[in-house]
Amino acid sequence: MERTFSIIKPDAEGFYYVHRDRPFFGDLVRFMTSGPCIVQVLEGENAVARNRELMGTTDSKKAAAGTIRQKHGTDIEKNAVHGSDGPDTAKFEIGYFFSGAELASLK
Ligand code: CMP
Repeated sequence: MERTFSIIKPDAEGFYYVHRDRPFFGDLVRFMTSGPCIVQVLEGENAVARNRELMGTTDSKKAAAGTIRQKHGTDIEKNAVHGSDGPDTAKFEIGYFFSGAELASLK
């Protein structure tokens, strides 16, 4: 059993701090703060990998048919959803938005 963190974009500068020196940082933050977003914790076996499979590759233009990014995103910048890229990242990202008390314990 595993948890992953997911954002239905757009949403945050602090959250994407790891990308602060990248050339697309400004555009990324502008998009992520251009409207409301929904943040969620998804739980299940291999949640990180399964969510990434559902999302499709980062660039919506290259995402496989039927994936969320292919269906609802526009390009690499406006790609509809975010998902953690590994268990450690998931832990950090879940903790960025949720307190332990808000989460039922993992089975
Ligand atoms: P996400 O999975 O939320 O993680 C970081 C985001 O930065 C990514 O989705 C993209 O939206 C964005 N991103 C990553 N690489 C690029 C790039 N080369 N150009 C523009 N945006 C990018």
